[in-house]
Amino acid sequence: MLAIAVALSLGAGGRTPAAPSPRDRALLERGRMLVAYGSCNDCHTPGWRESDAFPAARWMTGTAIGFRGPWGTIYPTNVRLRFQQSTESDWLHEIATRAGHPPMKWTDLRALGLDDRRAIYRFIRSLGPAGAPAPRDVPPGREPATPYYDVNPQPAG
Ligand code: HEC
Repeated sequence: MLAIAVALSLGAGGRTPAAPSPRDRALLERGRMLVAYGSCNDCHTPGWRESDAFPAARWMTGTAIGFRGPWGTIYPTNVRLRFQQSTESDWLHEIATRAGHPPMKWTDLRALGLDDRRAIYRFIRSLGPAGAPAPRDVPPGREPATPYYDVNPQPAG
């Protein structure tokens, strides 16, 4: 057991990570505020719409309730897992270039400055991996096996 602990600490370079600087801490705090105020949890945190008193440990773990529209049925990504695989510059690139499907807020995110875009990434990544991946997209015209919100415009009456 001790041997494993030693090997792990050597594997990590044998150094303890530096304490976050005040600037890093401020970015994380700003990220938390932007995620909360940006309604990210409404879609990406299971049960959030029904009760919003969740600890951050459960935030952004993705949901299995789809959004069905002309694009088929899509699911809010488990961002906790996604951000383990994608880098901060992937995220910045996505905000700059993704047309995406509604209802993801790609356009709204473009209203934010660079520091705010980074703060969101750093905060969510700092929460670490949790939960399971969201279901795969379902193509248009196919019936999803999960519950979904119908976001097709409905005729009046
Ligand atoms: C109204 C629902 C909704 C809201 C609000 C929302 N999202 Fe999403 N999000 C989605 C859906 C649906 C997808 C999957 C489709 C896509 O990738 O565009 C998604 C995808 C993503 C992805 C994955 C992109 C990829 O690499 O495939 C990230 C990261 C993300 N959202 C972050 C956020 C953040 C941060 C916020 C808050 C600023 C947010 N979302 C708010 C619904 C939402």
